[in-house]
Amino acid sequence: MQQRKVVIIGAGSVGATYCYALAQSGLADEMVLTDKNEDLMKGQVLDLVHGQPFFPTVMIRSGSIADCTDARVVVITAGAAQKPGETRLQLIKKNAEITGSIAEDVDKSGCRGVMLIVSNPVDILTYVALKRSGWDKSRVIGSGTVLDSSRFRHLLSKHCGVDVHNVHAYILGEHGDSEFAAWSMTNIAGINIDEYCPVCVNCSDWKNQRQLIEQQVRDSAYHIINYKGSTQFAVGLALVRITGAILRSQSTILSISTLVESHFGIKDVCLSVPCVVSDSGVSRIIESPLSSEELDSLSNSATILKKALSSL
Ligand SMILES: NC(=O)c1ccc[n+]([C@@H]2O[C@H](COP(=O)([O-])OP(=O)(O)OC[C@H]3O[C@@H](n4cnc5c(N)ncnc54)[C@H](O)[C@@H]3O)[C@@H](O)[C@H]2O)c1
Repeated sequence: MQQRKVVIIGAGSVGATYCYALAQSGLADEMVLTDKNEDLMKGQVLDLVHGQPFFPTVMIRSGSIADCTDARVVVITAGAAQKPGETRLQLIKKNAEITGSIAEDVDKSGCRGVMLIVSNPVDILTYVALKRSGWDKSRVIGSGTVLDSSRFRHLLSKHCGVDVHNVHAYILGEHGDSEFAAWSMTNIAGINIDEYCPVCVNCSDWKNQRQLIEQQVRDSAYHIINYKGSTQFAVGLALVRITGAILRSQSTILSISTLVESHFGIKDVCLSVPCVVSDSGVSRIIESPLSSEELDSLSNSATILKKALSSL
């Protein structure tokens, strides 16, 4: 394996923005961009390489799935967007077929790295990629709620008037409508948010604020998509964070989507729980002591995802 080679499959809005952010981070030595739309792929690569004098040293080029052979991380952002008149279920089927066949091809390339699924519905597609590749569960992960957790941290930091880096908080479950805030794990300076916020100068109505913040996180993507058609910047940065944890073997705790088999009373579904992420993907799930309400929400996400999976 090349020490710091990343292959990106899908050079659309999310794939290209991720490349731009990854190139600036200095984390990768080589980035290979692929897409079934060859013109788009070539155009994105040309646009990116013209930035090379301003990036830390990194090779950026176009390629194909064969480039996965010695990649450390393969990021899948390929997929179809919902068309007018198309149901969500039809979209799931279409994207499951795209991701599934890419996962098989990545496996055939002999890749021994980590596969990171980004395309939506990300939890379903992570499960499909895991089964179709035949890889160990630790090596197939989904970006899950890493993005949603960053939205949550941003809103809490604004609400409490403290640096976002001092806010520790996770959104768990489905990357979608049934996701939920793990309030029991949310803290500022080591103080649980339910104790911190009522005494904070900015807050007079914490119970209502709590609900509003959680709902705002859930609705974020809808608002951005209504305004500009798609989301790209924050997800690109969230992907850099995940990639960094793998390339630097950081053992970072992230709410990525992983196969849950025996934790939190859940079995055989991919969804977001706190995971330790390092060079070989997920090394451990952290079974945090969630409240009974949070456990119910997690179980609800699992039920929804299993139902969607059974429709495939
Ligand atoms: N997980 C997250 O947090 C998150 C956030 C934002 C977007 N997304 C998802 O990421 C995906 C990509 O979004 P986007 O805005 O970049 O879409 P996009 O339409 O701009 O890009 C998708 C690209 O995939 C390519 N593609 C399709 N089938 C392919 C195949 N078989 N092989 C190679 N390339 C193929 C298309 O040509 C296109 O360039 C979507 O499914 C979107 O919902 C996920």
